[in-house]
Amino acid sequence: MSMAEPAVSRSPDRDTPATAGLPDPYYQSPDGRITLYHGDCREILPRLPEGSVDLVVTDPPYSGGGAWGSDRNRPIAQKYQNSDVVQQHSDYQGDCRDQHSLRLWMFWWLGELRRLANPHVASACAVFADWRNLTCGIDALQMAGWVYRGLLVWDKTEACRPQRGWFRSQIEFVILGSAGCIPRDGRTTPSILREYLPGAKREHQAQKPVGILRQICGARDDWHTVIDPFAGSGSTLEAALLEGRRAIGIELEERYCEIAAKRLARAQQQPPLPLQSQI
Ligand SMILES: C[S@@+](CC[C@H](N)C(=O)[O-])C[C@H]1O[C@@H](n2cnc3c(N)ncnc32)[C@H](O)[C@@H]1O
Repeated sequence: MSMAEPAVSRSPDRDTPATAGLPDPYYQSPDGRITLYHGDCREILPRLPEGSVDLVVTDPPYSGGGAWGSDRNRPIAQKYQNSDVVQQHSDYQGDCRDQHSLRLWMFWWLGELRRLANPHVASACAVFADWRNLTCGIDALQMAGWVYRGLLVWDKTEACRPQRGWFRSQIEFVILGSAGCIPRDGRTTPSILREYLPGAKREHQAQKPVGILRQICGARDDWHTVIDPFAGSGSTLEAALLEGRRAIGIELEERYCEIAAKRLARAQQQPPLPLQSQI
């Protein structure tokens, strides 16, 4: 770590009943509000206490990039970057499932997340998807016990991926689910969220803009604790931090945990900027 990097706190010395059985965090913020685990969410989610989370915001591997097994097995950068761009980010696992196994796999972790949903608030989940995995995601969410509540559109703006002779690949989706009723109180949040994240600013091939994630995390005041079981470079955790929420992240690849930990330590030191949409 360079001298300029803020100190990263790891493995705090505490083992409360709620954390017993969990691995030591890879990163925990000094105030204990943001926790990142390095590991497979299939092993960590079952160890988290029932009813302990108010909001799921996650961006799982999409298993996109082609109709055939051989297409989907290509490196991530080849699948999701224009061919004239030099690979900037390392690969990650779990992006080559066919639609049947994707649905089953999503059903499993969405079910574990449903168990974590706090029954005392308007608990919800928000799952990123593109046009290919959207229907699988909607099916899996409902099969796992969430009430399907519609979609957000992430408008990546005209700056993103042109496709000659075809329509611009400009939008992705966020599948919304709730654990129960949503009281009609509080603010109204837009359902079209517009922001482009230039490649040069990304630390992960599939990184999502923090501004978009802040609008999701901050949409209701009773969402105190957010979880992202596919944390990548820590964008959801940073958004939750900036919105004054607690957050738990899980990430399989250590190199992305390292990026997330540094990012979170930096964000912790900065005063939160107002969201562009609130200026
Ligand atoms: C689409 S990326 C998330 C990117 C993130 N939204 C960001 O802005 O950086 C999905 C992440 O899930 C991680 N992953 C894949 N399978 C996993 C598993 N079983 N448990 C935990 N993380 C996993 C991958 O390593 C990858 O970093």
